Amino acid sequence: MKKIAPSVLSADLSRLADEVRELEEVGAEWIHLDVMDGHFVPNLTIGVPVVKSLRKKTHLILDVHLMVYEPEGLIEPFATAGADVITVHVEACTHLHRVLSKIRASGPKVGVALNPATPIWTLEEVIREVDLVLVMSVNPGFGGQDFIPHSLEKVRKLRQWIDQLGLKVLIEVDGGVKLENVREVALAGADILVSGSGIFDKPDKREAFRKMREALEGV
Ligand code: DX5
Ligand code: ZN
Repeated sequence: MKKIAPSVLSADLSRLADEVRELEEVGAEWIHLDVMDGHFVPNLTIGVPVVKSLRKKTHLILDVHLMVYEPEGLIEPFATAGADVITVHVEACTHLHRVLSKIRASGPKVGVALNPATPIWTLEEVIREVDLVLVMSVNPGFGGQDFIPHSLEKVRKLRQWIDQLGLKVLIEVDGGVKLENVREVALAGADILVSGSGIFDKPDKREAFRKMREALEGV
C-alpha cells in the first residue's frame, strides 16, 4: 500500500502539532521531518527537541530525514526522541555501515538517502542492511523545487534491483512530488511519496492530501 508522507518543512511550524493532527484526521500515517545542518545543505531546520515534542502529540510514523554531515552522534538522540524511521545520506557518512548499524541497534527503521547525482550502485554493499531507500528527486535543502524528471528512471532501476534481490526494502521519493506527478512516481516503484509544498502550500491541505491519495488508487 502506497503512503503519502507530508513533509512539515512547508507547514506552519508555529502550530506544528495542529498541522499534523489535521492531516492525521484525513488519514495520513507518515509524517516526514527534515533535519538540516547548514553544511551538508545550505539551510537549517528542526532538531531533536522538536521531534521529542511532536512525539507526545501524535502516534503517526515519524520519518526523520537527516541532511546532516557525519550524523553518527545524532542517531541515539533522535531514536530516544521517538523517531520511527531515521534516514541518513550516503554522501554525508564516512562510515556509512557503522551509522546504519547504529540506527538498527537504536530501534528505528533504517533508511539511506541518495542525492540526485549519486548512483544506485553506491548502495551495493549495504542494501541488505536497510529498510528504506530515499531517492531525492530535487537537490536537498529546500521545499518547493521542481521534480527532476530523470528521478523516475532511477526509481524504476532501484525497484527492479530490490525486487531481483528479493528484498522488502521500501522506496521513498522526496522532492517536487505533487498531485500532478504522484501517480507516475508511484507507478515507477515508489512506496512512500513525500510531499511538502504539494500539500501545505495549497489553500486546503486536507483536500490536497485526499486528492493525492485518490490519485494513488489502484496503483
Ligand atoms: C528537501 C526536503 C524535502 C522537502 C520536500 O530537501 O528533503 O522533504 O520538504 O518539499 P517539496 O515537496 O515542496 O519538494
Ligand atoms: Zn526530506
